[in-house]
Amino acid sequence: MRRKFVAGNWKMHGSLKSNADLLREVRSGAAGLDIDIAVCVPYPYLAQVADLLEGSNIAWGAQDVSEHAQGAYTGEVSAAMLVDFGCKYVIVGHSERRTYYGDTDAIVAAKAEAALKAGLIPIVCVGETLEERERNVTAEVVTRQLNAVAERCGVKALADMVIAYEPVWAIGTGRTATPEQAQEVHALIRARVARDDASVAAGLCILYGGSMKPGNARELMAQPDIDGGLIGGASLVAADFVAICAAAR
Ligand code: PGA
Repeated sequence: MRRKFVAGNWKMHGSLKSNADLLREVRSGAAGLDIDIAVCVPYPYLAQVADLLEGSNIAWGAQDVSEHAQGAYTGEVSAAMLVDFGCKYVIVGHSERRTYYGDTDAIVAAKAEAALKAGLIPIVCVGETLEERERNVTAEVVTRQLNAVAERCGVKALADMVIAYEPVWAIGTGRTATPEQAQEVHALIRARVARDDASVAAGLCILYGGSMKPGNARELMAQPDIDGGLIGGASLVAADFVAICAAAR
């Protein structure tokens, strides 16, 4: 039985004050829930969040990482730096990074590899755009994105990663994939991995992301291949995030 995992993605939101308020409520609301929980926050707040979550059942992570180990890459943050102060997770290949910052499949794979090598758990995002869904190439796109990572890191390495299926048309739009639509792609991802390694596939944690809310979380996470959620907007509202975590049980 795979454990459920709910991760928040705060995106570029937060302040010292609002983070403290949000995490105080999330920390008490999520206490005792028997699932894995994490929040992925902007770099400047990692240390604050690490402090605020100490001794809780909530882990924390970053939202991106450099594919390079160190060197002349102004503005970048290495995986080793994140590990240095206790980071556990890092999102790589979020569609916003792919769309606005040029993260190609190859760069995403290199970032996942860099994260793994340093001891982080990469949360690798895949997903099709609306145009791709309408052209009926969802399976092809998601498989291509996944293959890039599997080929660079090896299929066995997927056992130490989390995959997040996030249809781009559902992110921040209020438009959620139906449980059936999401399940179909999750099953496809698991089947693709099973072709190479059945045991890695059986243990693989695959999150759904894209307008997951308290009202749709339970039904989505009840699907056989949906192991949790990557939550954007709703992770900024303590009661909503806690309700989604509770719905994962
Ligand atoms: P959303 O974002 O929940 O606001 O749609 C999800 C994500 O981008 O990870």
